[in-house]
Amino acid sequence: MTTVQTAPIAGQKPGTSGLRKKTPVFMGRHYLENFVQSIFDVVGARHADGAGKTFVLGGDGRYFNDRAAQVILRMAAANGAARVIVGQGAILSTPAASHLIRLNQTDGGIIMSASHNPGGPQEDFGVKFNMPNGGPAPEGVTEAMFQRTVEITEYRILEAHDVDLSRIGRHELGGMIVDVVDPVSDYAALMESLFDFAALRAMFAGGFRMRMDSMCAVTGPYAVQILESRLGAAKGTVINATPLPDFGGMHPDPNPTWAKALMDEMFGPDAPDFGAASDGDGDRNMVVGRGIYVSPSDSLAVLAANAHLAPGYKAGLKGVARSMPTSAAADRVADALGIARYETPTGWKFFGNLLDAGRATICGEESFGTGSDHVREKDGLWAILLWLNILAVRKQSVADILKDHWAKYGRNYYSRHDFEAIATDRADAMFAALRASLAGLPGRQIEGMTVSAADDFAYTDPVDGSVSTKQGVRVMFSDGSRIVYRLSGTGTEGATLRVYLERYAAGPDGLDLDAQVALAPVIRAAHALAGITAHTGRSEPEVIT
Ligand code: G1P
Ligand code: ZN
Repeated sequence: MTTVQTAPIAGQKPGTSGLRKKTPVFMGRHYLENFVQSIFDVVGARHADGAGKTFVLGGDGRYFNDRAAQVILRMAAANGAARVIVGQGAILSTPAASHLIRLNQTDGGIIMSASHNPGGPQEDFGVKFNMPNGGPAPEGVTEAMFQRTVEITEYRILEAHDVDLSRIGRHELGGMIVDVVDPVSDYAALMESLFDFAALRAMFAGGFRMRMDSMCAVTGPYAVQILESRLGAAKGTVINATPLPDFGGMHPDPNPTWAKALMDEMFGPDAPDFGAASDGDGDRNMVVGRGIYVSPSDSLAVLAANAHLAPGYKAGLKGVARSMPTSAAADRVADALGIARYETPTGWKFFGNLLDAGRATICGEESFGTGSDHVREKDGLWAILLWLNILAVRKQSVADILKDHWAKYGRNYYSRHDFEAIATDRADAMFAALRASLAGLPGRQIEGMTVSAADDFAYTDPVDGSVSTKQGVRVMFSDGSRIVYRLSGTGTEGATLRVYLERYAAGPDGLDLDAQVALAPVIRAAHALAGITAHTGRSEPEVIT
């Protein structure tokens, strides 16, 4: 065991979901080691009585995943951990890691991922710590880790050969046990416990056709095992099924822009019944019907309204939680079901307390994230399987299910416009001006709408009372329309401005417009109120979802 002298490295502040940086930064001298030591300094590798703790370790397989895993293992051993459960090849999807943490009642886990950000020698890498409940560390914990990084003087590491992570079974590293496990089997068993696999097998056997795009990322082996092997979907249903260190050059973010091939197929002449995609680390999902795109906010609402059709949720839901920028479609379902609903800041970590306290069963974000209390992360394949279970029971197309949903609840037209890699000072100046204007906005007429309220979203956690401020600027209109502005907390280059746009149509007319068309006045108002072009020099977003 060696103690290595080091010095603080600037900028090791975890964002929305862990510490994410360009891979060369993470590979820089002491960079990974400083952050991992800060994790162990805060959470401790030993219990109070001196006994070593148990952790889970895995990642999405991106470039540097394998090397980083060996460093983290050697540091865990040197810090006194008793046992680490590692996915074979250092691979675990984020939801599977969350499940293993819970299933084995461990003391938490380290996940190596930059989620949907591209991977490779010049792309992104990330590390985050998840708590014993399986969920991302809350802000108080990540802040304490950051504070350690600014005062760190040394880290502990074992000098040892690599552990052979390709071999399933028990290994030993300087007195620490390393259990290499199949990344898929426990997760697949969990899915089988929640969904009616017999009904799904029958649906596929009856000719139901699906396309799953794993985007050369971590869900490939999970999707092949579950969809093709266990449920009998046709071989080749899952495409881009082999995880690659650079995701095959793809941007593994399941949205209409980056999963364009899937969109083209689903809107093409021989479209299958159902299309889905997942992201780099397997926690996001996109769902597409034949000729119809399902916005994530609508997906959350449809899942909440129909979850009771799946065995794991037949007792009904305790509540539904959504992030603030997510549309209010799920709120309408919660109100109709007479269950609680919650509006949290962006980021999955805010759902953890609600799930742990049994206040919510299903959660979702507009950013292609949906999940439930089965783990403490969003879960791409879970959402896809719940959709399949609903389709198997209702025996309707995705388009018909959406149309029925809108007819019953009305439609929350929704879109997000992203302006990427803006100079940070220009983005900050725009927000300063916007915040300064908020008090004067109520009552203002714009684009035929009247501003009813405007604020900077703050959240008080109903379980532990913690307060999170400055979580996004909201402008609400009296007709139910809404604009939200916030800056991304996961980007690694400059600032990314996200503008979230929403407009409610009660129906029965006007329920089948193109979202961008329906939202046109809201989009114009969003530009006018914030002076987006004047501040950022951009008039068009890079990504529209
Ligand atoms: C983005 C999404 C957010 C999600 C996070 C992690 O964060 O907007 O909903 O929880 O990625 O997947 P952002 O970059 O907006 O901070
Ligand atoms: Zn992800």
